[in-house]
Amino acid sequence: MKGVVLAGGPGKRLGTLTRITNKHLLPVYDRPMIHYPLQTLVDAGISQILIVTGGSNAGDFLRLLGNGEEFGLKHLNYTYQRGEGGIAEALGLAEHFAGGEPLVVVLGDNLVEKSIRPSVERFAASGRGAKLLLKEVEDPQRFGVAELVGDRIVGIEEKPARPKSHFVVTGIYMFDHQVFEIIKTLKPSARGELEISDVNNAYIRRGLMTYEILDGWWTDAGLPETLYRAAALVRERALRGETLTPYTLHLTPVLR
Ligand code: DAU
Repeated sequence: MKGVVLAGGPGKRLGTLTRITNKHLLPVYDRPMIHYPLQTLVDAGISQILIVTGGSNAGDFLRLLGNGEEFGLKHLNYTYQRGEGGIAEALGLAEHFAGGEPLVVVLGDNLVEKSIRPSVERFAASGRGAKLLLKEVEDPQRFGVAELVGDRIVGIEEKPARPKSHFVVTGIYMFDHQVFEIIKTLKPSARGELEISDVNNAYIRRGLMTYEILDGWWTDAGLPETLYRAAALVRERALRGETLTPYTLHLTPVLR
């Protein structure tokens, strides 16, 4: 399995915070946002990782992350998304990197409490199709919303006014090599983007989609409110001593 972090896009919902920098370079408690999805992949046992970024700060990712030494990696791969054509467009840029292997994809503004390694291992063992990690939330209208019938997922609606459930699609996706063929068939949505929900619906129509319910907390950090929440959740976890970041341990006693 290889891993991809998607860190392009405009980040417009953060207003002036993203006027001069990329959303994924903003701080979430004691680390830049991009560190968290990267750590999610590394904790899942993935060592071949591609970062897709864009905009005028792409070079800052290289300066920040280098070859991923801080994460115990030997090498990091980077690619550049011109414009903001959507999550599926950004993922399409990973085709060469994937080289036919299955992928775990993490959105650059998604943070999770616990390791996703067990789910990744189950997907790797199955070897085919796609897997989503769902989470039950209070505000499903903001997300891709799953329609569930029994234990099957039968469809996903992107930001519906009247959601069919409270189970939403988190920004962690597992795909086999078919994903790139599917992306090439997509048409831009009403908001002018190639939608990841259209990719997922294509897998559902092929009968090749499975899902699991994500354990522990999950949040995006793409709104002022969720950026703040993400920092609070990370801080709580750090205060419990459950962090992989050595320097967090030096910071927390000062704040207590
Ligand atoms: O957070 C989970 C949700 O993420 C899912 O439930 C939705 O189905 C999915 O569409 C997505 O919704 P958002 O509208 O919140 O996505 P957003 O445009 O904020 O993009 C999320 C990340 O994807 C962003 O941090 C970087 C990456 N991205 C996004 C776009 C539009 C790119 O790399 N390139 C892009 O062009």
